[in-house]
Amino acid sequence: MDRTASDLVRFVQDRAGGDPVRVGLILGSGLGHLAEAVDGIPIGYEQLPGFPQAGVSGHSPRLTVGQIGGVRVAVLGGRAHYYERGDAAAMRLPLEVVKGLGAESLIVTNAAGSLDPAMPTGSVMAIRDHINFSGMNPLIGEPSEARFVPMTDAYDAGLRAALLTAAQSTGTPCHEGVYAWYSGPSFETPAEIRAIRTLGADAVGMSTVPEIILARFLGLRAAALSAITNMAAGLSDESLGHEHTKRMAPLGAAKIETILRAALPGI
Ligand code: HPA
Repeated sequence: MDRTASDLVRFVQDRAGGDPVRVGLILGSGLGHLAEAVDGIPIGYEQLPGFPQAGVSGHSPRLTVGQIGGVRVAVLGGRAHYYERGDAAAMRLPLEVVKGLGAESLIVTNAAGSLDPAMPTGSVMAIRDHINFSGMNPLIGEPSEARFVPMTDAYDAGLRAALLTAAQSTGTPCHEGVYAWYSGPSFETPAEIRAIRTLGADAVGMSTVPEIILARFLGLRAAALSAITNMAAGLSDESLGHEHTKRMAPLGAAKIETILRAALPGI
């Protein structure tokens, strides 16, 4: 951990207590209210130098450290996306802090478009694997040999099984599939969606992949859940846009909260 991250870890521990965190969570667009499920101390990103400051509407830029269902968590209520500044490593410091607080696992959530007609708006998908369709990488420029991160099992099978079991035990339908990272901020064209579908993706979105790469770089086990907010471009006549994403995210967010509450005690 570099000095900035360890300073921030101390700052957070002074406010939220020094007990180690077990799990880190990143909340996606329109999923920010999940932070309210945490019984703990919120710290605004403006108090954490190096954390993403401006952000995108629909996010709550706070780090909340506390308990969900008796498990100590660190919840990143907002994320920086590659498309904001062209910086794929923008979430590196927040993830270093989460790791420094003791987390061994990271669960990422996002809003995504569906490429599968059997997975409509309002569905939830556990990500089994991803396609880095943007070609960007948060480890470009990292000088250490640790940059050669294997991504074969990037999405931890045990963590994913815990999420799927929790979904099943709570009667919450949860799909499983491949997520493609499109840089954004424009949405995809129908031709791009047909291409991504042919490549093997089930959902598409503008985040998550750089965070999963960073998590694996930092030695965190990783899992991710997508809230499907729309059918991807050309697959329905929904009008795509950020307002639509924010309006539809709560449908999946409620399911994600149910799954997380049931899964966390076993993680
Ligand atoms: N494409 C990319 N990102 C998204 C979408 C989409 O259709 N829906 C929500 N985030």
